[in-house]
Amino acid sequence: MTDVPPASAADHHILVGRPEAHPGVMVIRFNRPEKKNAITAAMYRHMTAALDEANADDKVRAVAFLGTPGCFSAGNDMGDFLAHALSGSTEPPAAAIFIKALALAEKPLLSGVDGLAIGIGTTLNLHCDLTVASARSLFKTPFVDLGLVPEAASSLLAPRLIGHQRAFALLVAGEGMTASDAHQAGLIWKLAEPDAVESETLALASGLARKPPEALRIARDLVRGPRSAVLARMDEELAHFSKRLGSAEARAAFEAFMRR
Ligand code: COA
Repeated sequence: MTDVPPASAADHHILVGRPEAHPGVMVIRFNRPEKKNAITAAMYRHMTAALDEANADDKVRAVAFLGTPGCFSAGNDMGDFLAHALSGSTEPPAAAIFIKALALAEKPLLSGVDGLAIGIGTTLNLHCDLTVASARSLFKTPFVDLGLVPEAASSLLAPRLIGHQRAFALLVAGEGMTASDAHQAGLIWKLAEPDAVESETLALASGLARKPPEALRIARDLVRGPRSAVLARMDEELAHFSKRLGSAEARAAFEAFMRR
């Protein structure tokens, strides 16, 4: 793995770094392999801060999300989901703030996926401009099985990107999508061997980091289109998602996972 030092000793579940070999590239790494890189509220907050830092710093020209060998992320931490469901909280979850930061990111976003990419581990890639994945990767969003609904504007972005039937299979039916199918569908840019996912992702990020930044920013914005529709869909999804989190269906699914 590329060596990325912890941002602080307090939170080593997300490692944020700027590898010397890749000037201009910020790496945000999921680093909780013992829990399949499931994402807690603290991890979302850490990643949001990193994206804000990337926006504000001219020296950052591209941001790459990476995981650990065999696992990108198993999605939202189920314990956090359950705690939120039981708390009756109406506060927007840290995840909601993070996904908005993804939509508002001003620098190109890349991801290197090796292995499991579940829930937001899949939907995060819809916000990435280039994704490299190993053939052993699996993209899956069991939202409905968990009593939930799609998030991160995936209900808008996935049908646009891969068409209605594939998006329905992925987001509603909860069917897993292999990396090969994801590649064919246009969900990811490139397939790579597991041990080459990081180097290829960082090479792509470095290439972007060397380009004229203002032209890159304008070209990216043109290709992505206006952010307003994405942000509006996030709000629409979140209104449902927040209610669903507190539903009996969702609570039963979280409890069943925690009891396994
Ligand atoms: N939240 C919290 N903990 C999680 C997690 C999640 N989303 N996904 C995995 N873990 C934990 C497991 O509880 C287990 O912890 P333990 O060793 O303390 O018991 C550890 O990670 C390893 O997971 P395990 O289930 O034993 O590995 P596996 O290879 O058999 O299965 C998954 C991996 C990802 C398929 C399975 O853990 C899973 O389905 N996770 C839930 C994914 C999900 O639904 N995410 C939310 C999407 S919206």
